[in-house]
Amino acid sequence: MLFQRVKPLDAILETAVRRSLRRTLGAGQLVMLGIGAIIGTGIFVLTAEAATKAGPAMMVSFVIAAIVCALAALCYAEMAAMVPVSGSAYTYSYATMGELVAWVVGWALVLEYTVAAAAVSVGWSGYMAGLARELLGLDIPHAFVAGPFDREPGLVNLPAMGIALVITWLLVIGTRESARFNALLVIVKLSALGLFIVLAVPAIRLENFQPFMPNGFFARTVLDPLSGQVLTVGVAAAAASIFFAYVGFDAVSTAAEETTNPQRNVPIGLVGSLAICTLIYLVVAAAATGAVGAQPGGELSRSREALAYVLRAVGQGWAGDLVAVAAGLALPSVILMMLFGQTRIFFTMSRDGLLPPVFSRIHPRYGTPHVVTITTGLFVALFAALFPVGALADVSNSGTLFAFFTVALGVMILRRTQPDRHRHFRVPGVWVVAPLAAAGCVFLFFQLSGATELLFLGWTAFGLVVYALYGRRHSHLAAAAPAA
Ligand code: ALA
Repeated sequence: MLFQRVKPLDAILETAVRRSLRRTLGAGQLVMLGIGAIIGTGIFVLTAEAATKAGPAMMVSFVIAAIVCALAALCYAEMAAMVPVSGSAYTYSYATMGELVAWVVGWALVLEYTVAAAAVSVGWSGYMAGLARELLGLDIPHAFVAGPFDREPGLVNLPAMGIALVITWLLVIGTRESARFNALLVIVKLSALGLFIVLAVPAIRLENFQPFMPNGFFARTVLDPLSGQVLTVGVAAAAASIFFAYVGFDAVSTAAEETTNPQRNVPIGLVGSLAICTLIYLVVAAAATGAVGAQPGGELSRSREALAYVLRAVGQGWAGDLVAVAAGLALPSVILMMLFGQTRIFFTMSRDGLLPPVFSRIHPRYGTPHVVTITTGLFVALFAALFPVGALADVSNSGTLFAFFTVALGVMILRRTQPDRHRHFRVPGVWVVAPLAAAGCVFLFFQLSGATELLFLGWTAFGLVVYALYGRRHSHLAAAAPAA
């Protein structure tokens, strides 16, 4: 029975020792990695999408998504500290629910990371096109800054494709250098949001919060994510989309194998980075709404550079340009983390025999899994070239929610099956927190559009075929215990 093909935790830890990556990251660097992965297109670009769906009540959407993420982060922290190897939700599922579930989770993580990297590349492209126009007077033809599936179709999104390829190259030349590069960009990003808050807060007017919930909480109508024929959605649907803004903290756990003292540092990295970002988002969302209003169909909801727009609208054009420059410089750090997470998951799946061994090959000079990095990077570039940011973000969310759901289940299962195993971090009130985390993920998943849910199911079905044709037979676990 495949469900019984469970990989013992000790075996997982042993494999990690056999083919290990270099341990170079400390707690501070992990928090920086987390912030680098979290703050990005979600707040800089998708704030407009949240306004479209929820109006000023998007602040409530931000809170709902944050709560689900915080609950999931606690579960991740327990797992990551106990199983500090590459692979995150994939590895945890392997140890708790067996190979088949692990494969499905790993496959869903491809949606999360690869598609998220593409989404952020597209968000970056929007800001760059705006900057080229504002600062250089250069109008890049629409055909080259939008893919064919955009609401206003183009040909190919060249800047999005280009940035994805540059980031791929940075990762190939080494984690250490990339983490330093990331830290610098995190500082740029935090400075930009700080400037935004300082200038937008004084412009807050209470009447801009009225009407607060124009689309209601659950109210919804069908919409085609690619045609733009939306409308009326609601606070819950906005929460499912803006969830993207928090995605990324789990990338910290995928770096566990490269972390010093992971039992202490990984929980600090996960929970710390999420807490900092949540606080910043709430202030930014409140300031943006209060300063210019956030009614569906209004200026903010239609902007492709939401934060820059707000600053220009309150008469701080110079700061708007500065924030746009910062977004242009900093969004690549998010792409970097997403791509990093993806390559480490593929690396681990390959090390387990579920993907061809070439994917776990390590570059002799750089010490990085270069084959898998380049392969993933090419796919990110392709998606970024073709699809719009909102659709990519929603698809990414579907995979992420599934992964978070299984991690919450995994924590509960391990508490039952291995109650005595030492836990360096324990979820407080696990029998409340973990079920709530799982329920929150299910709730948000069903607030996504029907098209997104179908795509997720199709992708999962495709993954099962791949598993049947390759992973099932090549699994190292199967080789070790053929009767399983
Ligand atoms: N949370 C990341 C972002 O907002 C993925 O771009």
